[in-house]
Amino acid sequence: MKTAALYAFVALLPTFANAQAQTWQQCGGIGWSGPTTCVSGTTCTKLNDYYSQCIPGASSAPATTPPATTPPPTSVPTSVPPTSPTTGTGSTPTASPNNPWTGYQVYLSPFYAQEVTAAAAQISDKTLAAKAASVAKIPTFTWFDTINKTADLGTYLADAQSIQKSTGQKQLVQIVVYDLPDRDCAAKASNGEFSIANNGQANYFNYIDQLVAQIKQFPDVRVVAVIEPDSLANLVTNLNLQKCSNAQQTYLACVNYALKQLSAVGVYSYMDAGHAGWLGWPANLSPAAQLFAKVYKDAGSSPFIKGLATNVANYNALQAASPDPITQGNSNYDEIHYINALGPLLQQQGFPATFIVDQGRSGQQNLRQQWGDWCNIKGAGFGTRPTTNTGSSLIDSIVWVKPGGECDGTSNSSSPRFDSTCSLSDADQPAPEAGTWFQEYFTTLVSKANPPL
Ligand SMILES: *[C@@H]1O[C@H](CO)[C@@H](O)[C@H](O)[C@H]1NC(C)=O
Ligand SMILES: *[C@@H]1O[C@H](CO)[C@@H](O)[C@H](O)[C@H]1NC(C)=O
Repeated sequence: MKTAALYAFVALLPTFANAQAQTWQQCGGIGWSGPTTCVSGTTCTKLNDYYSQCIPGASSAPATTPPATTPPPTSVPTSVPPTSPTTGTGSTPTASPNNPWTGYQVYLSPFYAQEVTAAAAQISDKTLAAKAASVAKIPTFTWFDTINKTADLGTYLADAQSIQKSTGQKQLVQIVVYDLPDRDCAAKASNGEFSIANNGQANYFNYIDQLVAQIKQFPDVRVVAVIEPDSLANLVTNLNLQKCSNAQQTYLACVNYALKQLSAVGVYSYMDAGHAGWLGWPANLSPAAQLFAKVYKDAGSSPFIKGLATNVANYNALQAASPDPITQGNSNYDEIHYINALGPLLQQQGFPATFIVDQGRSGQQNLRQQWGDWCNIKGAGFGTRPTTNTGSSLIDSIVWVKPGGECDGTSNSSSPRFDSTCSLSDADQPAPEAGTWFQEYFTTLVSKANPPL
């Protein structure tokens, strides 16, 4: 349903054909067709059958390499989640009970910054172009929506680590884990690369292993993750759809694996919880709380599982001046009402969850024909800037999860990923494929930003 997010960061680097892989990039593995040699000072090091990486220094594998006993993806049982592989470092990270953002500076994705800078350069109005360019300094999350992007995480973490060393300012990298098999079971625009019928669960476990292998190399850089937008919310309300009911057990096993593995390397996780107009309906609150609390407990109640992310890639205000008419019938007409309703239910179920709320595209309100409309909503503007000054003890941070300007889905009805939501009258058209840059949309987000840029 949501963005397919980013092209690979490697697009910024020299093309594969005549290049060596850069530090921390992939240099081999089953199915890999890129470069197999590494830049000077690094060695192509096998992490598993599917993944080799350019690691600085000697050819002997570093202590952080996953142990040889890590099961290859094909041997992963399909019904029993495997136990955590032990790490090579031996030290188990300890979760801070505080807000994960406190004391940290958020790392800016160089990929999004580059997209924004290129987009601003195309705007002829000088005042608007300057406002557009300023968006490059506002932190968003980076979406890892295909396995071949996982190597980019190492590039970002290495960059963040060097900023941390040179400035003394601790860095926090924000990521979205988004590659479930049969992804987006209730919509079409963000269909993923893995299918349950074709080894999807094992492929997903491998995807998580790749992210974890990168994160392990940089224990001093903090990582915060949003886990699988829409997935658990679909299990609350859309099990009547065949694709969602088929996916139920696999989604649960995959999210469980992601939470456990990421917690083991010190990543702070927030599970996606839809938004006020989805799970915020009174009838959905209690089933949602039960599901999220169960997933939390099944993943060992790790203190690294901080809570839930709401309004990801959506348009709801945190605090609406007045209810949008489309919210009629739901007393939880904005995100703060939703969070204030869900938070105590989670507490009762034993999950002391806190929240983060996406406000990246929530600057303008009362734009939609129906609350469920989600695709490239016309007239949307950038919203409240990311801040930990949230006005609510339940909310750790206002964030921008969706990188504004990347398309939600194509309006081309001949495309295999066409979702009819993207051709509704409140959707901006013509729109390109999900995740690709949508210049006209970005320009509107800039001009309608509230507060203004
Ligand atoms: C990464 O994977 C996606 C989906 O499988 C594919 O469309 C894309 O071409 C791949 N990109 C690269 C750089 O290999
Ligand atoms: C729409 O998608 C079809 C199928 O992918 C493609 O052939 C066609 O060129 C696209 N049309 C536009 C206007 O992009």
